[in-house]
Amino acid sequence: MRFVDIIEKKREGCGLSTEEIRYWIQAYTAGDIPDYQVSALLMAIVLNGMDLRETTDLTMAMMHSGDVVDLSSIDGVKVDKHSTGGVGDKTTLALGPMVAACGVKMAKMSGRGLGHTGGTLDKLESIRGFNCFLDQETFIRQVNAIGLAVIGQSDRLVPADKKLYALRDVTATVASIPLIASSIMSKKLAAGTDVIDLDVKYGDGAFMQTPQEAVALAETMIQIGNSLGRRTRAMITDMNEPLGRAIGNALEVREAIDTLRGHGPEDFTELCLTAGSVLLTEAGASEDREKARKQLEAVIADGSALEKLRAMVKAQGGDVSQIDDPDRLPKADHVTPVLSRTTGYVKELRAMRLGTLAMQIGAGRATKEDEIWPEVGIVLNKKVADKVEKGEILAWVHHRKPLGSQWLKALEDGFVIVPEKVSRPDLIYKML
Ligand code: URA
Repeated sequence: MRFVDIIEKKREGCGLSTEEIRYWIQAYTAGDIPDYQVSALLMAIVLNGMDLRETTDLTMAMMHSGDVVDLSSIDGVKVDKHSTGGVGDKTTLALGPMVAACGVKMAKMSGRGLGHTGGTLDKLESIRGFNCFLDQETFIRQVNAIGLAVIGQSDRLVPADKKLYALRDVTATVASIPLIASSIMSKKLAAGTDVIDLDVKYGDGAFMQTPQEAVALAETMIQIGNSLGRRTRAMITDMNEPLGRAIGNALEVREAIDTLRGHGPEDFTELCLTAGSVLLTEAGASEDREKARKQLEAVIADGSALEKLRAMVKAQGGDVSQIDDPDRLPKADHVTPVLSRTTGYVKELRAMRLGTLAMQIGAGRATKEDEIWPEVGIVLNKKVADKVEKGEILAWVHHRKPLGSQWLKALEDGFVIVPEKVSRPDLIYKML
């Protein structure tokens, strides 16, 4: 098979055969096809697309490019959730303990943050001593014992995606439904759980700009997951404003703890209850989503969800005193309030900008090598539709280094304030 013929075929808008897709992924993972040829194919896919059969073949080929985790020694149904990435998205930290406290096992492999979106591992590592790198046997033992473990993805899981994603990142070929769907689903399928709930985000801080694009991506991923025997569901959610109020690693851990104590932000709590009710129902732990929601509310109210977070942190070597007393989490030397220059209502809270600004002061990475400062970030005092008086606090910035005037100006510009009343946006656009 000549790779140039495969590129040409896709350039002409034709479908690739199962064999051609397998050859591409195997040979590229083995280092037998140069990046410049794969870049050309990726661009042809961005421009001409792939149908569902090709996308499923690509997903399977990628999934089998490395280890496939066998979770069969964990009793019962195992669930996973995946977010396509957002700003302030600390869902796993609260949702995992909530579903585990309801008796459903979450075996989760997570990633690090890059660019304006945060990563679950970075958040967990702001807890002193927390170990994200358990071997498979320890991971399985922990899920069996306490119903919950969150670890980093091993390098042997879907190595094809590592190479392809790095290439897509620098060749303007990330934005493609077949490429995103196969990248996400190959990792979810290789991670071995029975139930997958996808949170597909749209808006300013997300990969997909419109809800319609997010639905198209979600439908592709659902069809791939279901056709390969995993119960796959999705919710389409708004990422035009950050989720919750905290952006930044230790700040987000604190917000997840607050949520498990029953006083988290409204939007974040709602997202956790909605995702949790999907997982409990699909796992067979609840008859319907309404009953599931009540179960989830009950484990927050009686403290058992928080106790699960504690158990996971303890099992993974973390300092539980920081869960008991979040004031012991890393704290910034400086906390600077940002005041509103006008009176009105918050119309927009630009998620991408806020995520990027948080990254610039050390909450995230512009490149993989960048160091994270766990204590820094932004805490929003106002969210979309809130009324603001001139001189009121819009947000607090937790920082290590002095903030430049341009940075502060950019943060202020992240809040669009208008004189007329604004209605609260719907967080959940659709459940699929
Ligand atoms: N997340 C992934 O894992 N892959 C993509 O292609 C996009 C988002």
